[in-house]
Amino acid sequence: MAACSACRTVLRRHIDILQKLRQRRAHSTNNTSTKATKAGQQQHQIPTPNNVPTLNFWQRLGPLTRAAQAYARAQRKRPYVTQVCTSLVIYLCSDISAQSMGGRDYDPTRTARSLMIGSISSIPSYNWFVWLSESFNYRSRLLSLATKVVVNQICFTPVFNTYFFGMQALLSGATLPETWERITKTVPISCLNSCKLWPAVTAFTFAFIPLEYRPVFGGVIAVGWQTYLSYLNRRAEQSMAAARMAGTYLRAQRSLAATLQPFARAQPRLNSHAPRRLASTASPSTKRTPSTARNVILTTLLATTATVTYYYATDTRASIHQWLVPRLLRVLFPDAEDAHHAGTAALKTLYPLGLHPRERPPFPEDPHPTTGTGTNPLAVTVFGTTLANPIGISAGLDKDAEIADPLFALGAGVVEVGGCTPRPQAGNPRPRVFRVPAVDGLVNRYGLNSRGADAMAARLRERLRKFARRLGLSEQEVLEGGEEEVGVPTGSLLPGRLLCVQIAKNKKTDEKDMAAVIHDHVYCVQRLAPYADVLVVNVSSPNTPGLRDLQAAEPLARLLGAVVDEAKKTERKVKPRVMVKVSPDEDDDTQMDGVVQAVWMSGVDGVIVGNTTKRRTGLVKEGIKLTGKEQKALVEDGGFSGPAMFDRTLSLVGRYRKMLDSYSLKTSGVDDVFPAPKVIFATGGITNGDQALQVLNAGASVAMVYTGLVYGGSGTITRIKKEMREKLALKEA
Ligand SMILES: Cc1cc2nc3c(=O)[nH]c(=O)nc-3n(C[C@H](O)[C@H](O)[C@H](O)COP(=O)(O)O)c2cc1C
Repeated sequence: MAACSACRTVLRRHIDILQKLRQRRAHSTNNTSTKATKAGQQQHQIPTPNNVPTLNFWQRLGPLTRAAQAYARAQRKRPYVTQVCTSLVIYLCSDISAQSMGGRDYDPTRTARSLMIGSISSIPSYNWFVWLSESFNYRSRLLSLATKVVVNQICFTPVFNTYFFGMQALLSGATLPETWERITKTVPISCLNSCKLWPAVTAFTFAFIPLEYRPVFGGVIAVGWQTYLSYLNRRAEQSMAAARMAGTYLRAQRSLAATLQPFARAQPRLNSHAPRRLASTASPSTKRTPSTARNVILTTLLATTATVTYYYATDTRASIHQWLVPRLLRVLFPDAEDAHHAGTAALKTLYPLGLHPRERPPFPEDPHPTTGTGTNPLAVTVFGTTLANPIGISAGLDKDAEIADPLFALGAGVVEVGGCTPRPQAGNPRPRVFRVPAVDGLVNRYGLNSRGADAMAARLRERLRKFARRLGLSEQEVLEGGEEEVGVPTGSLLPGRLLCVQIAKNKKTDEKDMAAVIHDHVYCVQRLAPYADVLVVNVSSPNTPGLRDLQAAEPLARLLGAVVDEAKKTERKVKPRVMVKVSPDEDDDTQMDGVVQAVWMSGVDGVIVGNTTKRRTGLVKEGIKLTGKEQKALVEDGGFSGPAMFDRTLSLVGRYRKMLDSYSLKTSGVDDVFPAPKVIFATGGITNGDQALQVLNAGASVAMVYTGLVYGGSGTITRIKKEMREKLALKEA
């Protein structure tokens, strides 16, 4: 969500941006035409046609237009609240109309029932339609609409009708078997009936109605539909009553005949098979069963519990994310890689349903500290973008860019996806990830398993297309607009956030064959650069043989130079920046100096300092006892990560900062304009706010987290930022 609130903010901003873009376009058209007109008038004094575009008729309905605009604003600002209010009004109107058609006295309990049903279903229904709007968008508009209609009829209609009729029955006092019977009797018929109208409504809605008016439009049709059903029911009831009267007369005749002929065969009771009033419009029987009150209480309780659970479980601050989920994952998935896949799959599934953990207020993160509602002490400017916060998620968690948005929703200012290789590769054989819980550490030798650059590019491109469609723009317009015009960085597509895409060579590519190594990277850049704010060259993974050799000054400068050149060719207004991720193990002055030289010579924009380490010394503090399994894990081949690395990371960041800055001083002449300083991101053992502040103070712009998230759960980033805010506030006080 935050993603809830982040989604709202993003949606609002997107719409604002869209309006700005349209205004700008209209303005520039008008400007050009006005200039042309003036010139024409001066030359010929001939009256020119009025080029100001006329407003559509619905934009000229005075108070009605203003009301609709106000509604749209409210919908953009607070989609969920507006949605619930809209549903309440719609269900109220629908119930009043149905009751007035029903021909009985007004029954307020029925209205209350209706409102409860409407309010519970409003947000899930809204999320469904937002998801449907964003999915199945093909080149052919007709195919897109047809798919949306079919998916809606097959998935949403039966589920919604089951919920609707089931709740109606329960709230009317029916027992569970009765409710089930009601569902089995009504849902298939109602689904068939809905085919008469709803496919057309769905298609029309997606084709012509803007997102913010869709709930109201659907609601108005629903009220009309409900009224029509009530009318049909009323007629059915009247014919039933007539049939009943005829039945009474027949029964009286038969009983007379039976009295007269005591030995005649008994006639079956006349049972009416006339259609019953539909559950959706049925008035409660006047003789209500005693279970009604109980069911109402039960349903209210259930609904309240579901709502509270939803808000709790989807909030990154919930303690279950810290104390329960990571432990549960360890128990359920003894293999750490299985747990990794399960976590990724869960986020991937929950995100489109709006059920993923997200950062919620009270910490509004306005990326622009001097504007907006409040100040943001964590805002930091990186590569010209004011980041909402300086906490990042480092590479390896989302290897194939499947969950970039859910990761941003956890509150990160930077998300690094990858490492991605040009061609798909499987990585090392399993098992290849090992836990060392005693020190909150991991050892991994994944070996850069990747589905390849083409697959990642396809995924990121689809993400960009969805974003563009939401704004009513083309993919190209977003790429060419840049942050200045579209309002968000072109990679992250979120205000105040950056998306880094990490690239690396394939294992099979010989590290000594520089041309082949460069070719691998250039291929990745060509595929992935349009979707990245920052490209990260990984020469520090300990699990690809020979990769770290590329950190020597000469080959590194050649490689980085080629990547920088290729990145500059990206067909986009704002070109992606390039960073290099260096190992914590190549840490003597000569090695670091080589990296610094290569960075300055190649024109790379910054360095990600740190990665997993091959060293095993000093990782376990005195007094900490490892189990046999942990001892084995610790000596497995691969890179170690975890809080034990923090001191080394801090020291490396300080040293790189000094060396990078002094190199720029050394190479600039007296009259030279000093080049922009190189940006540092820090990774390795950062798990709390204090450590994050320390690396930032040592010269990094972003503090990145990986293993901290594995052991601390999905609330880790929210917690780190909270601790940072508290520390900063204490300092100020
Ligand atoms: C399971 C696992 C997979 C990783 N995969 C990558 C990767 O693909 N590319 C990369 O540059 N770093 C990778 N890393 C390293 C992390 O990005 C991070 O730099 C390192 O773990 C140190 O940070 P931490 O102590 O916060 O985990 C991986 C780390 C782990 C634990």
